[in-house]
Amino acid sequence: MKMTEIFAHRGSSGTFPENTFAAFKEAEKVGSDGIEIDVHLTRDDEIVIIHDKTVDRTTNSTGLVREYTLAEIKKLDAGSWFSVENKGEKIPTLKELLDWMQGNSITLNIELKNVTIQYPDFEKRIINEIEESGLEDRIIISSFNHYALKRVNELNPKIESAILYAQQLFEPWNYAKKLGARGLHPHDPKTDLETINIAQQNGFPVRIYTVNNEERMKELIDRGCSAIISDYPEKALRIKETL
Ligand code: G3P
Ligand code: CA
Repeated sequence: MKMTEIFAHRGSSGTFPENTFAAFKEAEKVGSDGIEIDVHLTRDDEIVIIHDKTVDRTTNSTGLVREYTLAEIKKLDAGSWFSVENKGEKIPTLKELLDWMQGNSITLNIELKNVTIQYPDFEKRIINEIEESGLEDRIIISSFNHYALKRVNELNPKIESAILYAQQLFEPWNYAKKLGARGLHPHDPKTDLETINIAQQNGFPVRIYTVNNEERMKELIDRGCSAIISDYPEKALRIKETL
């Protein structure tokens, strides 16, 4: 059996509305090792799970997440944009997801979205919720904002952080080490198998996003890539079983 872990990107977002409990439950049901999510902050400083900084694309409303209170954001429909069957899905909070994780063994990759918008004490608020949940060992925090990862590491070095990057980096493991990060999350098309191999030999897990193509899934799983992050975890798991 191959070792590659399968992470569901925004939950099983190819088959259910991204970043909702419908997508998370499906990811867990099909046997995913992990779930990747995106987080933002509401006007009343609650951590909510949504990809964009606005609610425009994935709900029935418009505006910045930051302009909504949690009570207001909970009234939005985060499922209808995907399909009528998913009407009524809500934007979840990080706390709700951490509570649900108490009943299973899934790993959670939290992507901090404070890249083109800044939130007060964002990293601290997230780490506080993780510490309250007692799930530190099952969490990976990633971001394109590498300064945010440095802050995560200063606040709680026990929580694994991982750099997200879409460009080519020279010896990314050395760069990550300087930030205190322990994992590499590169964009798929620009990542060659040799670099993955060397990074992993240096002790850095490589979790590649976003891999939806069957041939590429096969190649990465066959070559022992640490993890693939996919919108179609069931497909990736099925392929893994055949190798
Ligand atoms: O964490 C990997 C991936 O989710 C980063 O890109 O835009 O899908 O959040 P994006
Ligand atoms: Ca993401």
